[in-house]
Amino acid sequence: MIRVLASRWQGSVLVCGKCSKKLGGGFGEKGRTPLAKMLRAVLGLKKGRKAGRGVVEVKCLGICPKNAVVTLDGARPDRWLLVPAGADASEVVATLTER
Ligand code: FES
Repeated sequence: MIRVLASRWQGSVLVCGKCSKKLGGGFGEKGRTPLAKMLRAVLGLKKGRKAGRGVVEVKCLGICPKNAVVTLDGARPDRWLLVPAGADASEVVATLTER
């Protein structure tokens, strides 16, 4: 039997965890904050299914850019972003949510 759990997610953002690891974080004041963590902070989200939106680190997405992190909005799988290390959080959110 397959159990179904309720979730409050209204959307999802996938962030390559391996890119983040290769940068040693790469974001925030000291350049040591991973992109997923920075996005959660800017969007006021917690981890897990009770958050309003999921920001999850995934395995390598096969692009492997230098000095950037592959990120995509789950609702727009046709647009993958290569977010350069040190990018401004609000710019990342604006680009992610632009239609
Ligand atoms: S390491 Fe991030 S896409 Fe491969």
